[in-house]
Amino acid sequence: MPSPRRSRRRLSDPIHEHRSFHRTESKIAVAGHPIHAMLVTFPIALCASTLGADALYWWTGDPFWPRAALWAAGVGFLMGILAGLAGTAELLLVPGIRIRAASWTHFILAVMLLSVLGLNWGLRLSDPVAAVLPWGILTSLLAAGMTAMTGWHGGKLVFDYGLGTQTAAGSAHGGETRGDRN
Ligand code: HEM
Repeated sequence: MPSPRRSRRRLSDPIHEHRSFHRTESKIAVAGHPIHAMLVTFPIALCASTLGADALYWWTGDPFWPRAALWAAGVGFLMGILAGLAGTAELLLVPGIRIRAASWTHFILAVMLLSVLGLNWGLRLSDPVAAVLPWGILTSLLAAGMTAMTGWHGGKLVFDYGLGTQTAAGSAHGGETRGDRN
C-alpha cells in the first residue's frame, strides 16, 4: 500500500497543469495596459455618484439632484456595458483567464450588476424626480453593494491570480500566484 506521502504527491489539479494556465497576458490593451481596468472606473464612480445624488435629493428636496442622478445612472450603465464588452473579450480570448473558474464568477457578478445599473437608469427615464423615493435610492443602494462586490472580485483576479498582467508565471511569487495557492 502506498504511503500517504507518496499518494499525496501524485495528486494534481488538471486546471493548474494545463499548458494555457500561465497565459494570462491582456489582449485588449493599450501598450500593455488592459482597457477593461481603465473603463471600470466609470461605472464604479458613477454608481456611487447616483447614490450620492439620490441621498442629497432626499435631504434637500432640490430637483437638481434627480436630474444629476438620471445622467450619472445612464452614463454609468453605458460605460459599464463598454467595460463589460472589453472584459468579455478578454475572458474569451485569453486562455489563462478563460480556464479559471474565478473569471467566470466575476463575469456572472458583473452581468447581474449591469442589469441592476440598467434598471436604475430605466426607472428614472419617464419621471426622474418621482422615481427617487423610494425605488430609485433603494436600487442605487443595491447597485452600490453589487459594484463593491464585483470591483473587489475584479481586483482579486488581478492582484491574487495575476490575470491581465504580463504572465502569471512571471509574477513576483515565482510562478505561483496567491490565488492559485488558495
Ligand atoms: C461583464 C463582464 C465582465 C468580464 C468578463 C470581466 C472580466 C474581467 C477580467 C478578465 C479582469 C482581469 C483583468 C483584465 O484582464 O482586464 C477583470 C478585472 C476587473 N474587473 Fe471586470 N469584467 C466584467 C465586468 C466588470 C464590471 C461591470 C466591473 C465594475 C465594477 C468590473 C470590475 C473589475 C475591476 C475593478 C477589475 C480589476 C482591475 C484592476 O485593478 O486592474 N468588471 N475583469
